[in-house]
Amino acid sequence: MGATITAVGHYAPEKKLTNKDFEKMVDTNDEWISTRTGIKERRILSKEKGTSYMAVRAAKAALAQRNISAEELDLIIVATVTPDRFVPGTAPYVQGELGANNCWGYDINGGCSGFICAVATATQFIESGKYKKVMVIGADKMSAIVDYEDRNTCILFGDAAGAVLLEPSNGDGFGVDDFMLHMDGIGQEYLYIKAGGSRLPASHETVDQRLHYLYQDGKPVFKFAVSGMTDVAKRLLDKHDLTVKDLKLLIPHQANMRIIDAVASRLGLEPDQVMINIHSYGNTTAATIPMAMSEAYQQGRLKKGDRAMMVAFGAGFIWGGILFQWAFD
Ligand code: UT7
Repeated sequence: MGATITAVGHYAPEKKLTNKDFEKMVDTNDEWISTRTGIKERRILSKEKGTSYMAVRAAKAALAQRNISAEELDLIIVATVTPDRFVPGTAPYVQGELGANNCWGYDINGGCSGFICAVATATQFIESGKYKKVMVIGADKMSAIVDYEDRNTCILFGDAAGAVLLEPSNGDGFGVDDFMLHMDGIGQEYLYIKAGGSRLPASHETVDQRLHYLYQDGKPVFKFAVSGMTDVAKRLLDKHDLTVKDLKLLIPHQANMRIIDAVASRLGLEPDQVMINIHSYGNTTAATIPMAMSEAYQQGRLKKGDRAMMVAFGAGFIWGGILFQWAFD
């Protein structure tokens, strides 16, 4: 039995943080940010709200599109690096607020690849016949872990959530074809939060030294991201005797416009084969791919039977791709 995406939804907070706003906060300018990253603005969730607030709204949008109630869900998987709290996970908050009273769930921390890790996991539950309705959410409130005094990273990130519903495919052959996921612990030194976990618990000193914020050494991450995503996309296509001409849309993780351009050009994709919305949201970590997928669907760029691929790269390093056929108009 195959698994297929039957609904998609997203939520982005209203408040915008523009490149001009950053000019007042750190030593940067619109020109540098635009040309180096492609980002123009990001969305910021209000301080007192947690990631689950956005996750619930994205999931509600997907449920409304499929016209089913939350009580029909069997499982909720939340991909996030910014849980509401360390304990419990974010999934129980989402379950409670949705009123999804017949399911269980858990969080996945796969960094920027968290959403595709979660879709791969959900696919197994559907293919095994164990569950019929799995809500997969990618959600991150990056503004909670970004150091707004570090110009190298603060301009990159934003807050948002996206969600897809996975169900058994109806026999038309559409759905998830395959996935490939990889990990290389070499990445741990390039993208991490030093303090606040069990290795270095939070203390006055760690907070004074700003070690509870996200640190990134961007250049190596950039290089690994381009080669990792290109390689996995090529191998997924080869394995299924497909070429880039068979792809209606590539939905890449939105970390940097130059990374997306480099991957697209190495693969030989035309501009209309690549979904891009980084200019409006920045890098929303686990949310970028479902956000982009949801907007692509709304814009009529995903139609029934279209072959598409998601590719992601992020902390760990963890990276991978999912090849699929869109199942509904
Ligand atoms: O989503 C998870 C995975 N993450 C990624 O894929 C992100 C990968 N990395 C990147 O996207 C890029 O490396 C960045 C956007 C983070 C940085 O771009 P870059 O072209 O690699 O710039 P750089 O770090 O080499 O910095 C170039 C210069 C430096 O100045 P010097 O040393 O040449 O004088 C930086 O200090 O740009 C400077 N700089 C800035 N200038 C103005 C760094 N940040 C800024 C800034 N505004 N915000």
